[in-house]
Amino acid sequence: YCSVVTHLVVGLFSTIINVNEVILKNIFIAKKHQFKVETRTIAVDFGRSDIYEKIDAGLAGLEIGVLVNNVGVSYSYPEYYLHIPDLDNFITYMINVNITSVCQMTRLVLPRMAERSKGVILNISSASGMYPVPLLTVYSASKAFVDFFSRGLQEEYRRQGIIIQSVLPFFVVTKMTRIKKPTFDKPTPERYVAAELSTVGLQSQTNGYFPHAVMGWITTKVVPINIVIFLGAAMNRVQRTGYLNRRRLREQKNGASLKSD
Ligand SMILES: NC(=O)c1ccc[n+]([C@@H]2O[C@H](COP(=O)([O-])OP(=O)(O)OC[C@H]3O[C@@H](n4cnc5c(N)ncnc54)[C@H](OP(=O)(O)O)[C@@H]3O)[C@@H](O)[C@H]2O)c1
Repeated sequence: YCSVVTHLVVGLFSTIINVNEVILKNIFIAKKHQFKVETRTIAVDFGRSDIYEKIDAGLAGLEIGVLVNNVGVSYSYPEYYLHIPDLDNFITYMINVNITSVCQMTRLVLPRMAERSKGVILNISSASGMYPVPLLTVYSASKAFVDFFSRGLQEEYRRQGIIIQSVLPFFVVTKMTRIKKPTFDKPTPERYVAAELSTVGLQSQTNGYFPHAVMGWITTKVVPINIVIFLGAAMNRVQRTGYLNRRRLREQKNGASLKSD
């Protein structure tokens, strides 16, 4: 988002907030050279809930025109709720990253936008938030929250000139999906974001990319919801079994090589 938006809005003062200070420094240098824009970075862990004072201080003096609530985490593999490793911390972490971040960042940024009657907030939900996705249940529910939050808030602030959009992608080639090769229905982030940005101001809820919009239409309007949930569960059970088998083989191999050492 940062790259594509910066291409579109010349002179945008972009602020990137992330957890890793080293990565941030690299992004900072890259953006400065690539787009000749001033960039401010704030290193925080969105898995924590005590970071918003620091972010507020870091944003002081900035006029934020566009907020992209992009930060998000998913499962490392599809799993039944009670079998999720370290479930207690997993719940807190996922809710902080996927839900609290969206509410709190909006709390910090929206007041100035409302004063100026101008601003855009893009909240990255997911197609998994359009219906329950078993074995990714917490992620799916967190993304449904983001979608409802965005659509409710859009109606509250529409008359004040604020655009709040709920973005619900299907698969995109990123670190999260571990998909390496882009295809027509699984685009690169650049291709996805370029298509998505053309919907801003036109759609308050969007799948953002034509093939994803078709998939969204089929899964919500054509196929009955119970079948979508059933197929989602079946697909994730297969993925879970594959992942656990691969992990078992890896562990056996490591065990064998340790013994031979
Ligand atoms: N990729 C898809 O197919 C897909 C589909 C639907 C929705 N989405 C949503 O799209 C958004 C972007 O995901 P992505 O696919 O680009 O995933 P990604 O490659 O894993 O990127 C997630 C971003 O969030 C940051 N992040 C994660 N945990 C953080 C934490 N605790 N504190 C600060 N930053 C943190 C990551 O930082 P690091 O790089 O430092 O780890 C990274 O910049 C997410 O909200 C995701 O749910 C993705």
